[in-house]
Amino acid sequence: MTSILGISAFYHDSAACLLIDGEITAAAQEERFTRVKHDYRFPVNAVRYCLKEASLTASQLDYVGFYDKPLLKFDRLLETYLDYAPAGFPSFLKAMPLWMREKLWMPDLIRTELAKADGAEDEKEAKKQAKQFRWKVLFGDHHESHAASAFYPSPFEEAAILTMDGVGEWATSSIGVGKGNAITLLKELRFPDSLGLLYSAFTYYTGFKVNSGEYKVMGLAPYGEPRYVSLIKEKLVEIRDDGSLRMNHEYFGYSQGLRMTNGAFSKLFGGPPREPESKLTQKEMDLARSIQVITEEVMLKMAGFAHRETGLKKLCMAGGVALNCVANGRILREGPYEDLWIQPAAGDAGGAVGIALALWHRYLNKPRTSPEAAGKWQTVRSCRNGSPAIRME
Ligand SMILES: [Fe+2]
Repeated sequence: MTSILGISAFYHDSAACLLIDGEITAAAQEERFTRVKHDYRFPVNAVRYCLKEASLTASQLDYVGFYDKPLLKFDRLLETYLDYAPAGFPSFLKAMPLWMREKLWMPDLIRTELAKADGAEDEKEAKKQAKQFRWKVLFGDHHESHAASAFYPSPFEEAAILTMDGVGEWATSSIGVGKGNAITLLKELRFPDSLGLLYSAFTYYTGFKVNSGEYKVMGLAPYGEPRYVSLIKEKLVEIRDDGSLRMNHEYFGYSQGLRMTNGAFSKLFGGPPREPESKLTQKEMDLARSIQVITEEVMLKMAGFAHRETGLKKLCMAGGVALNCVANGRILREGPYEDLWIQPAAGDAGGAVGIALALWHRYLNKPRTSPEAAGKWQTVRSCRNGSPAIRME
C-alpha cells in the first residue's frame, strides 16, 4: 500500500488530500473544520480527518507533497520588490519576518505540523517527533498542481489543460496537454500580468473582498451594462489573440504589495473604491459587467489557443479563474471543444489534490489505468446541452 498526503496551505484555502494506491481516500478544506472562511493556516484538522479516514498516522505515510514552491515564490517577491523599490518598502518590511521565520523553512514547518496532527502536545515534542518521520516533503509547481488536479481526475484519456489564477510562483496561467499519466505544460503567462489579479482588482474596486468576493462580481454582472469595456481595453489591458495579456501597471498597486488598485485607477473610473458593505450603485454593476465581458473574451481566447496548440477536443481547467462558471459555460457552448472537465475545487484547495495525484502519476510513474479510478470524479456527460455539472461519487 502506498499513501500520499497532499497539502495546500499558508496563502488561502488550505486543504489536505490523502491518496491510497492512487485513489482519493479523503480530501477536505480546513475552513470546513475551523469555520474561518478561506482559512490559510496549516490544515491540521483536514489532515487529521484524512488520516483518520484511512486509520493512518502521519508517521506511517509514504510521501508528503506541498502544492507549490515557496523558494520560487520568494524569488518572485524579492525581484518584484526590487523592481518597484522604494514603493513597496513598507509591504516588504511587513512580509519578510514571516518568510524568514516560517515560509523559507517549509519542510521543517510541515513536518512539525504533521507531528502535531499525530498528537504531539507542544512545539518541542512536535519537533522531536518530526525527526522520526521517514518521508521527505516534495514540492510541485503551483500551476502543475492545478493542472494535475484538472486532468488526472477527469474522464479523458487525453485533453488540453488550461490553468488560470491570480499567481502561483511566477505563472498566472498556463496551457498544457495531458495524455495517460503524463502532463506537459507548454506555455505560461507570468506575473504581474494576470487575468485573476485583473478580476480581483475590480473585485476590490467594487467594494468586495479580494480572493473571496469574485463570485459576487460575476453575480452582479448581469445587472450592469458593459460600458467600461472599451476604456479597460484602451487604458488597462491589451488582449492578444492567444489570450495572453499585457497590463498597464501604472493603474495597479498589487506588484508593490499594496492595494489592488491605485489613485490612477480611481481617477480613471471617477472616484475611490466603493466602501465595503455600502450601497451598490449602477456604476459597480456596470464595472462588474465590463470586467466579466473582458474575462470571458480572454478565457475564450486562451481556450482557443490551447486547442490550436494541442489539436485536442477535450479541455480540463483549474485555478481560481476556472470558478467563473459563466465564462466556462461560454467555452462549452462557443469554444472548439467537445467536452470540458473542471476541477470542482478549482482554487488553491484543489492544489492538495493536484500535488498528491502528481506524485502518484508523475513522480512514481503509476499508470492511469482507469481515469475515473484516479479520483472517482466524473462529469455528467449530458452537460453539453445544459449547464455543466460535476458529481463526486
Ligand atoms: Fe492558484
